[in-house]
Amino acid sequence: MNKKDMGSENMQDKTILTGIQPSGVITLGNYIGAVKQMVRLQDVVKKSYLFVADMHAITVPQDPKELHENIRSLIALYIACGIDPKKNVIFLQSDNPYHASVSWLLECTTPFGELSRMTQFKDKSSKNVNFSAGLFTYPVLMAADILIYDADYVPVGIDQKQHVELARNIAERFNKKFGETFKMPEPYISDSGTKIMDLLDPTKKMSKSSTNPRSVIKILDTKEEIEKKIMGATTDSEMKIKYDEKNKPGISNLMNIVISLTDETIPSLEEKFEGKNYGEFKRYVADVVVEELGKIQKRYYELLGSNELDQILEEAAKETRAIALQKFNEMKVKMGLYK
Ligand code: TYM
Repeated sequence: MNKKDMGSENMQDKTILTGIQPSGVITLGNYIGAVKQMVRLQDVVKKSYLFVADMHAITVPQDPKELHENIRSLIALYIACGIDPKKNVIFLQSDNPYHASVSWLLECTTPFGELSRMTQFKDKSSKNVNFSAGLFTYPVLMAADILIYDADYVPVGIDQKQHVELARNIAERFNKKFGETFKMPEPYISDSGTKIMDLLDPTKKMSKSSTNPRSVIKILDTKEEIEKKIMGATTDSEMKIKYDEKNKPGISNLMNIVISLTDETIPSLEEKFEGKNYGEFKRYVADVVVEELGKIQKRYYELLGSNELDQILEEAAKETRAIALQKFNEMKVKMGLYK
């Protein structure tokens, strides 16, 4: 599924689900790739789940104090970004022990070879030889997250597409072997936000773990930081505002950011900035980002200290545990275990 403006009429009976790792403040890429899509869809779907993937975060070393703070911060950010707690089940992955239980049953039906082919695993494990076993089995936990809730669509950035496709394989294999148990999920990827790129090296994705802070816009960056980063973004020497991912990745990335956050389109931007220079265009991009993030930040700081967050998590934990236990029991019975 790859439809920014997909008609809402065919979404009314659908369930959507996505999660984000609480490893540092989320980036503009996470916001555009996942959260903003959920905000768009929350009014038109039957059911929507958004969670903090804290068990995924610990597949790589984390500072416990920082992790703890990042988890609460992400819940507050979801709501500040426009996720309505009345229209979405907002929950913590680790509040629901059945995610890991379902994951184990699925791990036992997933070939080792299939997991070895995951590009994100190959990439992350090549950077550190002492990687954890969890880093390897992580995509199965992600499949469990999705399959427990019978999600139809999974709004993600393109970097997670392979993992959602793996979830489909896992579901299909289980259904074939043990009988119909899981719904087939589909990745839901918006056209414009497919991949927001690094500002200094627009050939790689904007990532929370980037070593150079000037290459990434974080949702909580100040106005001055955002302006400085966008004005310093790598472009090219052609001085023409034209979309061309291959030859002009920097400018194309900035255009993608704008069309993801506004009603502009690529042709309308090209027309608006015809004959203008990169400085003028960058200033416009910075204004768009500052306006969008400014609103989010105001709400975020109001929410952070409130106990509204604890109530939301408590209710969601109850609801999601009941759903996941049912799926876990169904799987156990089908696999021959005792319920
Ligand atoms: P994570 O935390 O790496 O990223 C969260 C979401 O942000 C998207 N994203 C981007 N989109 C566009 N441009 C970028 N530069 C960019 N960087 C990140 C990601 O595609 C993702 O949608 N494994 C997942 C978390 C997860 C999950 C799930 C997601 C766990 N279980 C079940 C969906 C369903 C992850 O690490 O995302």
